[in-house]
Amino acid sequence: MQLPSVSSKVVSALRWLLLPWWLAQVLTGEKSFWPNPILGDPGLNRRGFAVWRGRLAARMTARRRRQLESLVPAADRAAFERDGYVVKRGLLAPGAFSALTAEVAGLTAMAGEFKEGDAITRRIPLTPALLARLPACRRLLGHPAFHGLTRYVGSFDAEPLVFIQTIFTRTGGDQTDPQTSMHIDTFHPTMKAWLFLEDVGEEDGPFTYVPGSHRRTPRREAWERRLSVRASDPRTRKTGGAFRIAKPEMTRLRSAKPKRFAVPANTLVVADTYGFHARRPSARPSMRLEIWAYSRGNPFAPWARLDLSPARLWRGQAAAIGFGVMALRRRLGLPAQGFRQVARVSPGAPPAPWP
Ligand SMILES: [Fe+2]
Repeated sequence: MQLPSVSSKVVSALRWLLLPWWLAQVLTGEKSFWPNPILGDPGLNRRGFAVWRGRLAARMTARRRRQLESLVPAADRAAFERDGYVVKRGLLAPGAFSALTAEVAGLTAMAGEFKEGDAITRRIPLTPALLARLPACRRLLGHPAFHGLTRYVGSFDAEPLVFIQTIFTRTGGDQTDPQTSMHIDTFHPTMKAWLFLEDVGEEDGPFTYVPGSHRRTPRREAWERRLSVRASDPRTRKTGGAFRIAKPEMTRLRSAKPKRFAVPANTLVVADTYGFHARRPSARPSMRLEIWAYSRGNPFAPWARLDLSPARLWRGQAAAIGFGVMALRRRLGLPAQGFRQVARVSPGAPPAPWP
């Protein structure tokens, strides 16, 4: 977005010409403070605009979740309300779980790989074409707990994006994995889910979550307001809205002790990643193999069963399209956020060295 050859005043004038676009963006999931001059207005955010936006999105999400209550037993809803996540140990029957792990082990498919610090994440999107030849994966997506929890927590009655995901930690180099810092994914409630296909040890970089941190509290909103003002500083041009939080601030917010999900294989975790979460640093090079899902509709939509976002039209192909676009950006020499596409790879194969 930066145009180094044009003065910043001209850029700023051009930004205001797009005012109708920026206004429409206010009621979407757009989380960047730049280049939208409304979302990134320091004066507005000092007066609590970003907090108001988050509060409204949370209210609409609660409304949509109420519409989907019948998908999830009351006990799971209560656990989610309390903690911000639901854990299901031994999700699949032993036979179904071994069929799933065998299917994943025997698969070779197109994948996207992302490098963040010294970690590499490989994602194989479960597109309709791939699912057609993976019966055990199809059965998992239809499993009542997986089906119900991903929709209820995601607050939309829509298929989440699902991937076979492998995370390789400590792959070399001295850069820190940014996912090991406690953070929120965005300003509104949003769902991510993991079905771990192998045991996750304490040393293997387990997922970590601060119980109850999905709830908005006056202290949490004050923190968000401070960070939204800081992120609106025109000099920083902050494009992300995934705020990070350090330990002393978490103490000020009276946050609970983080819970580590060092759990046995066949455990499902479905979480609202508006809550504070991270990947715990690995003590050694490790590999985590899982089925990973996420869902992110327009947080301001009033109906869980009527998704008006244009993304619904290509939902099944979204990941493959996204990977294609990033691969093209890379070929054109544009920033592609540490991404590469791999034509054929098996989920558990060690990643090639990153150039
Ligand atoms: Fe995250």
